Amino acid sequence: MKNREILFKMENVKAYYKLEEVTVKAVDDVSLEIFEDEVIGIVGESGSGKTTLSNVISMNIMKPLTLVEGKVFLKINGEFEEISSMSREEVKKKFWGKEITIVPQAAMNALMPTIKMSKYIEHLAQSHGIDKNELLSKAEKRFEEVGLDPLWLKRYPFELSGGMKQRAVIAIATILNPVLLIVDEPTSALDVVNQKIFLKVLMQMKKMGIVKSIVFITHDIATVRQIADRMVVMYAGKIAEISPIEEIVQKPLHPYTQGLLNSVLTPEPEIRKRGITTIPGAPPNLVNPPSGCRFHPRCSYAMDICKEKVPPLKEIEKNRKVACFLYMEERK
Ligand SMILES: Nc1ncnc2c1ncn2[C@@H]1O[C@H](COP(=O)(O)OP(=O)(O)OP(=O)(O)O)[C@@H](O)[C@H]1O
Ligand SMILES: [Mg+2]
Repeated sequence: MKNREILFKMENVKAYYKLEEVTVKAVDDVSLEIFEDEVIGIVGESGSGKTTLSNVISMNIMKPLTLVEGKVFLKINGEFEEISSMSREEVKKKFWGKEITIVPQAAMNALMPTIKMSKYIEHLAQSHGIDKNELLSKAEKRFEEVGLDPLWLKRYPFELSGGMKQRAVIAIATILNPVLLIVDEPTSALDVVNQKIFLKVLMQMKKMGIVKSIVFITHDIATVRQIADRMVVMYAGKIAEISPIEEIVQKPLHPYTQGLLNSVLTPEPEIRKRGITTIPGAPPNLVNPPSGCRFHPRCSYAMDICKEKVPPLKEIEKNRKVACFLYMEERK
């Protein structure tokens, strides 16, 4: 791995949706580091907590979501600042747009059809106290960089195709050159051609230094493999495994990762020879998740300890962490 300078870290974070009757343990005791100059892919089934995790990274925490425990740090000018001790408003004012930017799931559909693209730039200029015309000319340049005619800035979102809209969204989101960019399922709604263009634009932005590190959330392991340095596998609100991308594809450690990779129809011979199987059962309800390892009811390797104890996320090979008793001494 290239640069191991840590840009962001969270420690033992629990972020729960506290509803009237129940609590949804969407992110439960998660620790994660993001390095400078890396692309990190976060994968996991629907409801595994990926979007919630992205909201914790950016401290976009709004009721009913509650940060129950843990700390979140962002490196600012070489020093870690604990952003979890600040309010959402404070983090938003100080760091959003410049240090950290999130492009939410389905962002391109959230653009107001009756608001011109340039209006978003004007809003940004206003909220950051930047000269409007200066930012607009920067936006024109950025639009060109993502392959859009700058004239589109004067158009309404409904006039753009899906692929163009998504590129416009990313152009606007990165206008202040955020250090850390989080994109949540940015390609899911695009056709294959536009997916390719979008990924190219994204990697180009990193190459040009417009953004430094990228968190890419997706269901699509093939995409992660194409662009990411590391992969994080989430299962039921927890991290099952973190690993450099090629190592995890060649040799997935966690039984859930093995199942995930096997269920992806892929031409890769090393994956294909393991056969195509799906993981039996369904992900648990996060109001009342299974005891011990949350994956144990679906795991064909489950041992007694897996029902009783929560496996910690441990480094078991260089740069490879897994939360599974199969790889730990305690199993005996
Ligand atoms: N506003 C909310 N109120 C209550 N529960 C929520 C809320 N948002 C998400 N959840 C629950 O939190 C858990 C994690 O959801 P989250 O959206 O983070 O998953 P995800 O991995 O992003 O899923 P997807 O792949 O479908 O986008 C799920 O059980 C979900 O039902
Ligand atoms: Mg999501």
